[in-house]
Amino acid sequence: MPTDQQDKACVEMRMVDGVAVLTIRNPPVNAGSHAVRKGLADGLAEAARNGASGVVIIGDGRCFIAGSDLKEFDSKLEWPELPDVIRLVEDAPFPVVAAMHGVALGGGLELALGCDYRLAAPHTMVGLPEVGLGFVPGAGGTQRLPRLTGLARAIDLICAARRIPAGEALAIGLVDRVVEGDLLAGALAFLAEAARPKRAALALSPPTDDPAAVDAAADKALSRGKGRPNVAEVIRLIRRAAEADGRDALADERAVFQRLRVAEDATALRHLFFSERRAGVVDGLDMGLARAIGSVGVIGGGTMGQGIVRCFLAAGLPVILIERDEDSLANAVSAVRASLDAAVEKGRLAPDEAARRNAALTGATDFAALSGCDLAIEAVFEDMAVKRDVLGRLERVLAQDAMLATNTSYLDINAMAEGLAHKGRVAGLHFFSPADVMPLIEVVRANATDDATLATALKLARKLGKQPVVARVAEGFIGNRIYAAYRRRAELLVLDGATPQQVDRAATAFGFAMGPFAVSDMSGLDIAWAMRKRQAPTRDPAARYVTIPDTLCEMGRLGRKTKGGWYDYPEGKPVPSDQVADVIDKARQAAGIAPAEIEEDVIQRQLLAAIVNEAALLLAEGVAQRPSDVDVTLCNGYGFPRFRGGPLWWAAHQDRAVIAGDQARLAEAIGHGFAAGPVDKVLNDIVEERKG
Ligand code: NAI
Repeated sequence: MPTDQQDKACVEMRMVDGVAVLTIRNPPVNAGSHAVRKGLADGLAEAARNGASGVVIIGDGRCFIAGSDLKEFDSKLEWPELPDVIRLVEDAPFPVVAAMHGVALGGGLELALGCDYRLAAPHTMVGLPEVGLGFVPGAGGTQRLPRLTGLARAIDLICAARRIPAGEALAIGLVDRVVEGDLLAGALAFLAEAARPKRAALALSPPTDDPAAVDAAADKALSRGKGRPNVAEVIRLIRRAAEADGRDALADERAVFQRLRVAEDATALRHLFFSERRAGVVDGLDMGLARAIGSVGVIGGGTMGQGIVRCFLAAGLPVILIERDEDSLANAVSAVRASLDAAVEKGRLAPDEAARRNAALTGATDFAALSGCDLAIEAVFEDMAVKRDVLGRLERVLAQDAMLATNTSYLDINAMAEGLAHKGRVAGLHFFSPADVMPLIEVVRANATDDATLATALKLARKLGKQPVVARVAEGFIGNRIYAAYRRRAELLVLDGATPQQVDRAATAFGFAMGPFAVSDMSGLDIAWAMRKRQAPTRDPAARYVTIPDTLCEMGRLGRKTKGGWYDYPEGKPVPSDQVADVIDKARQAAGIAPAEIEEDVIQRQLLAAIVNEAALLLAEGVAQRPSDVDVTLCNGYGFPRFRGGPLWWAAHQDRAVIAGDQARLAEAIGHGFAAGPVDKVLNDIVEERKG
């Protein structure tokens, strides 16, 4: 229980010219904890005792309120809950103004919506992210917001968990004024310049949208929401804002909120929320060692290099792109510039920002151009000799403390750095394709990587707006290694009787963005083919091996880019392929396999079993720091459904006897050479990690 003293420390009340100013002080982001709620309730009472003519609620530090304190959400919430505080605001005898800066999200925005007036500093972002966290706004957001913006817009904002800037919030009636300059002074002036009557949003007349527009917004939100229970509920609640008296709907909203915040989806998403914050932390690492990165060199302007360049430019960093020859350089630079133009055309990028990014990009073929860079990252061919040569050349031109990074997908970074004079500054920065869109970066810590380099990489990932996960060197690090085991299981399922379509359907029915074969077709079958060829000399000849993808590659069926892979693409859309069915038949005959019917549920559980076992193996080897990092990796880089919390969280909440059965079936299917990971231990660990 927080003490009164802590409550007071969280919200300070002072009188300024007859107005009570309540300042929220709960660093780092003024989360709306119990102490903050209690402090606000006490502050409002004290304001009344002091005969205040008005109240300004304002945040100290970075922001107004970044949201409710999710740490409290696993158990019963203590009095006063947020609706209690908002009721005190509405019942107060004086007008209450919310003065927002930084962010006002979730419960923070709901508190503001409960105030009589809302003011915002120019760069403030406001939004209700609850739907993305598996529950619904529970302090009147679904009733007050639509009364200000209309139903259709509210459905869009709330269901997409959209954050909008102050200017847009002003335009749609969510904010009364954008205040330039000192925010508190602006709020006090707002109260002083005219009589400001009480004006509760709930007392405004209900919205009168065109029903067709509301239905269209609801349909769109439902299809985007993957049929999750909270999406349907929140739409039902928002529609209730059209009722004349909002009190019934408020009680309904609170009941749904209380039920869903402790239900499966929200619990899993909360696990991810905390895991994502932890994943960027290395215990004991001094982040103060991080070096500033002011300019970047990117070597290799292919698929990944171009995406990486766009990513750095978007983060405001100047980039020098290096290619092998003038032609390749011109192609790569013009492809990046063309993508900026296209973004302007689609209205996704302001023309002056595109111009700034264009000016920040230069190209060269001579490594000497990189001499002033603080970081150089290579994205050249996946070939050890080429990469070693590039790192050697970089070491000769860059300053001694500049960081050298590799974007390799699978290669041994220890071996890559061998021969360099300063190995400590080498680390992996493994981006995912497209690098400017996908949120994940695996930060790979080689044996010699020093603390300053690791800290620099982690800080840089955040600056780029990415989700870092720390991995040790291993074939495929965390993500690609697990994905290889998953893909291998998928291929064995096909060999044993399933069709590629059945496997893909089972994966998407579980919630994966795409099935494994559709993914292979998209990224190209040749990447894994190259890896298998590299591994061929050391492969155990007694182990089961699926030849189908090799045959497809030999036939030139490399995926979408060759208009055929596991599927045919007659009109750009995947359809089952007779040619592939023939290859599968022949492979079964050669292996002496009589194809069996495999049920969708079994397919799903076997795909998951392969992921969980490989994760357990790599955790035992120390490749990942903690079980939750695996969940963060799969959800941010591999289309694993977020609402399931990641593969380990999902498995930890299944019947252990069933999981053991899945593992036994996996062992049988893989057969010779199967390595069993410590699955039980890892699943216990992830539950313990959450409790801690
Ligand atoms: P890519 O073949 O599209 O591009 C490689 C580029 O590097 C080419 O433009 C080539 O001209 C250039 N290059 C080769 N040697 C060079 C040298 N010595 N100096 C300057 N430029 C040189 O390959 P991609 O797909 O972009 O992959 C690059 C790296 O990123 C590889 O290590 C790959 O494993 C990794 N990666 C690839 C992902 C993908 O989805 N394609 C995902 C994550 C990592």
